[in-house]
Amino acid sequence: MSEIASISVNGKSHELPVITGTENEQAIDISKLRDISSIITIDPGFKNTGATKSAITFLDGEQGILRYRGYPIEQLAEHSTFLEVTYLLIYGELPTADTLQDFRNKISRHTLIHEDMKKFFDGFPSKSHPMGQLSCLVGALSAFYPESLNPNPSEEEENLSIIKLLAKMPTIVSWIYKKSLGHPVIYPKNNLNYVHNFLNMTFGQITEDITVDKAVVDAMHTLLILHADHEQNCSTSTVRIVGSSNANLYASVSAGISALWGPLHGGANQAVIEMLENIKNDGGGSAKWLAKAKDKNDSFRLMGFGHRVYKNFDPRAKIIKKACDDVLERLGINDPVLDIAKELEEAALKDQYFVDRKLYPNVDFYSGIIYRALGFPTDMFTVLFALGRLPGWIAQWREMRANKEPIGRPRQVYMGHTTRDYVTLNQR
Ligand code: ACO
Repeated sequence: MSEIASISVNGKSHELPVITGTENEQAIDISKLRDISSIITIDPGFKNTGATKSAITFLDGEQGILRYRGYPIEQLAEHSTFLEVTYLLIYGELPTADTLQDFRNKISRHTLIHEDMKKFFDGFPSKSHPMGQLSCLVGALSAFYPESLNPNPSEEEENLSIIKLLAKMPTIVSWIYKKSLGHPVIYPKNNLNYVHNFLNMTFGQITEDITVDKAVVDAMHTLLILHADHEQNCSTSTVRIVGSSNANLYASVSAGISALWGPLHGGANQAVIEMLENIKNDGGGSAKWLAKAKDKNDSFRLMGFGHRVYKNFDPRAKIIKKACDDVLERLGINDPVLDIAKELEEAALKDQYFVDRKLYPNVDFYSGIIYRALGFPTDMFTVLFALGRLPGWIAQWREMRANKEPIGRPRQVYMGHTTRDYVTLNQR
């Protein structure tokens, strides 16, 4: 029997259905509340609002659980590859060996970007941030593939846009990096797998392909898998809401990239390294920085700490911390900011302010240290996050369309002036 919630406002009671998810999460369906009562609900930042019913990612912030399509993140990070996880997120099941090969073949046929897109790079100032470039270039794909503009594409057309975006994103990301150095770009090599090809375009030379260290490839797979989806976060909600107007995939993902850029979201990985560098240059030590983070008159926050949903630990952070130790050891790198990060974490976890507010290291606390060890400059970190998050954005955009979800359009409680008459300029 379905459950009912009762809301009483000014002595009048209204009954609303309760939805129960497959993991027994419960939600009051308020979608008809206004129709039956003229009352709306308000929840700035959507702290307690479910925007959709989704079958892609489950996370339990209290228990520190994260699963893609039912598979625990720990198992995927250890045993799977990024392309396999990409397929799983978008199409719902782990691919067979044949399906995966077919998926790989399709992607490798679309890795080139239109030669005219290179002209964009000439227009960007040499120091422009890679995230601004990425958002622009991904949005621009819609100009080069106008068939993607069809608001009601067939399944085949929709899949083609998906494959093209997955295929071209590593090329765009690598070329942003090469152009920032003033180096010639490296064209995709379709005999290389997805991650190897990306690393070759990023770190290879025109004259020779790179031999990639297994430690580097493994670390890249782990990082990309851990970032691949995270249910209704800021950038994913942006992708879904933009897509809900029937905007094309490239435009929707471009908007998601912009949302990811902010330091409270994906931009935190860059902000963490900058913070750790500042602490190092300041002579190290955690006390001063924890005090600043706790001071309500100081805008400083401990970057890479805290999460809207995780209130116990971020399971991705646990995996990344270990991966960070492993990769630095395997590459023989001794990065002093790793010691600062560990000291800060230890001190924060014992500090009553952080304990009371359930603030733990999030996915971004250690990821930047790995990216740095792999040779990426700091301002590329959030772009790498975007590369990892791409399958999640696509899966969520596709699900939103398949569910035929209505256009996203929240309401508000108006707090401004009531009606007043216009006063002409000379009478003001
Ligand atoms: N340092 C110091 N205090 C913090 C921090 C932090 N990193 N994070 C939260 N707090 C405090 C807040 O000041 C607030 O304190 P109060 O109750 O005394 O006012 C309390 O903890 C709750 O914080 P909110 O900002 O209300 O929590 P919210 O869920 O809105 O924000 C967020 C979550 C944005 C992640 C926040 O923790 C933060 O700014 N962290 C630093 C940035 C960061 O690492 N972002 C990456 C998140 S992971 C990702 O998006 C991929």
